[in-house]
Order: sequence, then C-alpha cells, then structure tokens
Amino acid sequence: MEYRVAIVGATGLVGQEFIKVLEQRKFPMNSVHLFASDRSAGRKLSVANKKIEVKETAADSFKGIDIALFSAGADISRHFSPIAAQSGAVVIDNSAAFRMDPEIPLVVPEINPEDIQWHKGIIANPNCSTIQMVVALYPLHKVNPIKRIIAATYQSVSGTGSAAIEELTIQAKQVLDGEATVPHVYPHQIAFNLLPEIDVFLDNDYTKEEWKMVQETRKIMHAPEIAISATCVRVPVFVGHSEAIYVEFSEPMSPDEARDILAQAPGVKVLDDPTVSLYPQPVSAAGTDEVYVGRIRRDSSHPNGLVMWVVADNIRKGAALNAVQIAEEMIKREWLQPTGAKR
Ligand SMILES: NC(=O)c1ccc[n+]([C@@H]2O[C@H](COP(=O)([O-])OP(=O)(O)OC[C@H]3O[C@@H](n4cnc5c(N)ncnc54)[C@H](OP(=O)(O)O)[C@@H]3O)[C@@H](O)[C@H]2O)c1
Repeated sequence: MEYRVAIVGATGLVGQEFIKVLEQRKFPMNSVHLFASDRSAGRKLSVANKKIEVKETAADSFKGIDIALFSAGADISRHFSPIAAQSGAVVIDNSAAFRMDPEIPLVVPEINPEDIQWHKGIIANPNCSTIQMVVALYPLHKVNPIKRIIAATYQSVSGTGSAAIEELTIQAKQVLDGEATVPHVYPHQIAFNLLPEIDVFLDNDYTKEEWKMVQETRKIMHAPEIAISATCVRVPVFVGHSEAIYVEFSEPMSPDEARDILAQAPGVKVLDDPTVSLYPQPVSAAGTDEVYVGRIRRDSSHPNGLVMWVVADNIRKGAALNAVQIAEEMIKREWLQPTGAKR
C-alpha cells in the first residue's frame, strides 16, 4: 500500500528534512504534495528524483491526502490542521499548537505508540528538547521510576529555523572581522555567546520552552507525578541539541546498570568512555537518527541520582524523523489506510 503525503512548510528546515527522511527510509509514497506560503509558491523541490512544485497552502490542499506532515509554525497548524483532518488526512503536527490538548495524542514512538490509536485526525509531535530527553530517560524510568529531573539544555540555532542559521553564519563572520553585529532573529548576538531565552517568558519566570519540557515529558511518559525543572539555553551551534540531565530515581541505580539498560533501548546509543574522551557531541550527532547518551555518573549530591549528557539532531529525531516514525508505526499496526482504500 502506498500513501499520498502532504508536507506543509516544505521549504523550511524541518520540511526539507521531512523530504530527506521520507526518501532515506523509502516511505511508501504514492505521491508527495509540497506546500508553503505564497512566497515560495512556484518553486520546485526535488523529491525522489522528481521535481515537484511548491504550492501555497489553501483549504483545498488536502483533498485525497492520507498523511499531512505540518511544520510551518503554530498559527498555520491551528488554521489548516483541522481542515486537513476534516478532509480525511491524518495530520502529524510539529508545532506547539496541539501538544498539550488532552484530546490530541503527543507521541514518541519508542515510548507511547499506543497513544496514536486514540487520535481524532491530529497527532502532535513533541518539542525537540523533550523528545531526546524522554527517549533517554523512559527506559530507565520503566525499571526504576523517576521522581525528579533537572535539565539544562544547550540548543542549536537550527531549532529556530533557517533564518537563525543565516544569522549565526553572518554574525560569526562579522565578529571575526571585527565588525558590529545586529541581531534580528534573537534579542542579542548569538555568535560566540549564549542566550538563556528560548520562546517567550511566562508568568512563572520560566520560558515557554522550559515549561514545554515539564508538561510534555509528563504527558508522553504518562507520569504526571515527576518533578521537573529545566533551563533552556541557545548556543552558537548549527545543528544538534545537548542536555545535561540530573535524574533522581525511586531507588539507587548504578551507572553500569543505566548503561546496560540504555544499550538495549530503542533509538539510543551509549557513547561513554571518558578514558578516550568518548562522549556525545552535536557535531557528530548532526545528520544521524539516534539519541546519544554519555558522561553517565553518580550524582554526588543525591544517593538515588544519576547525571548524564544527552545529544541528538534536533531537526531529525527532534522533528522530522519522529513524525515519520509515527506514520510508520501507524502503517505497521494497520491504523492507517490509504485514501483509495477508504473510499
Ligand atoms: N527546527 C527545529 O528544530 C524544530 C523542531 C521541532 C519543531 N519545529 C517546528 O517546525 C516548524 C517549522 O520550523 P522550521 O525550523 O522548519 O522553520 P523555517 O525553516 O523557518 O521554515 C518555516 C516554513 O514554514 C513555511 N511558512 C511560513 N509561513 C507560512 C504560511 N503563512 N503558510 C504556509 N507556510 C508557511 C515557510 O514557507 P516559506 O518558504 O514560503 O516562507 C517554511 O516552509 C515550527 O513550528 C517549529 O516550531 C522546528
């Protein structure tokens, strides 16, 4: 069986990665339909060696579509996802529009694939920082329930989209040339700097990105009782988010036990040998599918605690790959019929 796939936001960083991931994984596509704003309408993008024209997203874009992958921002998702679902497509949405809606499943296939089953046309893809954290922590939580998580993130500029990649590139050159920088995408210079501000500030003094990590983790892991606190920091890295994570379990867990569990865990690769400076790095994670875990050690401040360093490609596992894996899971479990079969 083959499926008619629509990509909304096809010209963006995540949209481009959708195309790459669908091609690389040989996703069973009958046809691909590319959408963006009127700015890109008429551009041609290559998909599986065919040139496909990008169209402006419109209410009638989703007729006959089986799967609609959305990555064009929350406003576009809020407007067009219900229309796409109404047309009979299953929407997998990368924005923050629906993630905390109790009627919409929020899915990481390694963790809660069964939640896909209660969708009503829209499935939410979690935030990039949340995905890599839960992929690394859930296998440990199943063995020894987690009570508390404290995370500090080091998030690459690709998490903000293509304009941020350009901003870092230009600013890095300007700084090296001794010129002044003018920030556009971020509130301050990002080249050779760190910004502890991702998404907007909330009334509780956390940023929205930090609060997403709290709420989304609890929803995906079905663990509303876990205490979580995060500090999210934008760093001058192009691709790959890194996280220093402090975990408190119900009972003590040794670093060796954690390594053994994670070595068997789906989607995880342990890179942990300090004697040869082996640990995950964003530069080597970029372009790959796994969530990498290293620097696993006892938390010297708590008998039931472990500390670890978790890195993943935020555009792949943090966005496009996770969404495509959701679609693959639906096909594998026979929860998705092509439109032709439905009508
Ligand atoms: N980057 C990440 O790591 C990441 C991770 C998870 C989720 N996401 C989410 O994915 C979405 C896109 O991120 P990105 O990094 O790909 O951003 P991006 O590179 O800035 O791309 C934005 C995309 O949205 C399209 N778009 C903008 N306005 C539109 C409109 N009015 N109608 C239709 N399409 C429109 C753009 O099309 P034009 O070319 O026509 O402007 C472009 O294809 C965001 O919701 C983001 O939160 C991103």
